Amino acid sequence: MVETIEWTSEGVVMIDQRLLPRQVRYVTCRDHREVAEAIRSMVIRGAPAIGVAAAMGIALGMLRADPDRLDAEFAEICDTLAATRPTAVNLFWAIERMKRLYESLRGRPVEEIRARLVEEAQLIKQEDIAINRAIGEHGARLVPDGKTVLTHCNAGALATAGFGTALGVIRAAVAQGKKIDVFADETRPFLQGARLTAWELARDGIPTTVITDNMAGHFLRSGRIGCVIVGADRIAANGDVANKIGTYTLAVLAKENNVPFYVAAPLSTLDLTIASGDEIPIEQRPGSEVTQIAGVPLTPEEVEVANPAFDITPHRYVTAIITERGIAWPPYTESLRALARAAGEGFTPRRN
Ligand code: MRU
Repeated sequence: MVETIEWTSEGVVMIDQRLLPRQVRYVTCRDHREVAEAIRSMVIRGAPAIGVAAAMGIALGMLRADPDRLDAEFAEICDTLAATRPTAVNLFWAIERMKRLYESLRGRPVEEIRARLVEEAQLIKQEDIAINRAIGEHGARLVPDGKTVLTHCNAGALATAGFGTALGVIRAAVAQGKKIDVFADETRPFLQGARLTAWELARDGIPTTVITDNMAGHFLRSGRIGCVIVGADRIAANGDVANKIGTYTLAVLAKENNVPFYVAAPLSTLDLTIASGDEIPIEQRPGSEVTQIAGVPLTPEEVEVANPAFDITPHRYVTAIITERGIAWPPYTESLRALARAAGEGFTPRRN
């Protein structure tokens, strides 16, 4: 399995996702500012992966923090990482978890605080892999044998600490012996589907066909697609889902064609502090991602460009939400809260 992110004695090492699949290159971040820049510039991306990166960034920053200004530096480090990307709640969930640990260590020797923060960041990574395997086990039974699964963006090993959420369900279904193949939306403008999902699945030997985003309706109408499975960046209490731009279009097309639309996500993607998707901040990314492909300009220079990185899929289009604790069915206001309660306290981000 590909190593997305790793804690080493040199710093935090990440595979550079901007270069895949043409180049497999690893980047070493030597302080928390470099980790923040790696998140902002999409060296690492995907909701759970940026949560792990933020936790490791905090641990890294604290290794170099001035012992006489520990509280102030901790707060600055957390703020720097929180300011990178606004939509995926896993980032804020991970920062919050590190803050709680730090607060519980108040008064302990600096070396102990540092060691415990490093340990916690590594634990968040290990837990994420186990969580994805559990999501895979719960979700695999929903995947119809002998059909095609359509996915959007990359919700695989690269978007997590390993195994993946949506791709984890696909991997688990294949491991159970189901004969399935995958259609991967290319996912303009950043091409996470064409570059990253296709790369991961090809390495696993899972038959994959890349389609452009505007072909999805055609194939959903054809009867070939057994289900759609996507990941999520934030899920509101009512089950509205923020995910990669284009997810909403896909969900509406799936409903129109009676194809089940599943969302696979860890409970750390739930944001029960917000009632609906209307409250989820949508990241606006640089227009150059739309006007250029691989650095080659496509559009006239004077044209206006919009580049919202995510959209909201209203819960009525979501057939079920697959989590590590089981599957949530509508009405989500009840089912999500019940799964969250079963998981215990601690995953709902605290707002300042
Ligand atoms: O902009 P990105 O590439 O970070 O967006 C990623 C997605 O939208 C994923 O589908 C989502 O984070 C789930 S990843 C398991």
